[in-house]
Amino acid sequence: MTDVWSQRADAFRESPTHREGPDLDLLVEWCEPGHDVKVLDVATGGGHVARRLREEGCTVITVDPAPGMRPDVVAPAEELPFADGSFDVVTCRIAAHHFQDVRRAVAEMARVSRRLLVIEDNVFRGEHVEEAERLRDPTHVRSYSEDEWKEMVTEAGFEVEQVEHFARRQSADTWLERVETPPETAARIRELLAGEIEDGMLGFASIVLKARKSQK
Ligand SMILES: C[S@@+](CC[C@H](N)C(=O)[O-])C[C@H]1O[C@@H](n2cnc3c(N)ncnc32)[C@H](O)[C@@H]1O
Repeated sequence: MTDVWSQRADAFRESPTHREGPDLDLLVEWCEPGHDVKVLDVATGGGHVARRLREEGCTVITVDPAPGMRPDVVAPAEELPFADGSFDVVTCRIAAHHFQDVRRAVAEMARVSRRLLVIEDNVFRGEHVEEAERLRDPTHVRSYSEDEWKEMVTEAGFEVEQVEHFARRQSADTWLERVETPPETAARIRELLAGEIEDGMLGFASIVLKARKSQK
């Protein structure tokens, strides 16, 4: 899996939907950035969250299991090589649906954060979308609903303060080409997602969630 991601590194560094957007703006705002804020960006990919938070003056360490993403530390979210409470904020954007053990990853992110968790991911929209996602990209494990996210974060000892949903549209061709989907697989995916594609544009939905370490 790591090699697959390293091969995709340039595509994710360049991808407009990853590089910018109102979801990224909100995520940055919810980190309460500043000069004395230390952040861990988990599954950093093209490093867009880290770049934006550094521009706001934060000290950011990036972690990702794919060396090709050029993170500061190579490690999976499920095994973060940092001491308890090492960071003020832990971020994780558009990646948790790839984690083999999301609960363990959330527990790890909660363990190393002393203040905030700010997470964005694709939100669950139905089993047909999950099937299409897995066909397009076998590294897709599962997307989660708002309730599932709230439950996982609460179980990890954080209180959810704010949640926001985002909808955006992207060219279905670009989405399929980014991971070089073979033509027959692409045809099946288009069939599954027929109800979500309009004028060649595919609808996506994501959730951003801000949670604070519980004082209880
Ligand atoms: C879509 S990219 C992340 C996008 C990036 N966070 C951004 O905001 O542009 C998904 C990333 O998840 C990473 N990844 C996959 N499995 C992982 C795991 N178990 N733990 C941490 N990162 C993982 C991949 O290496 C890849 O860099």
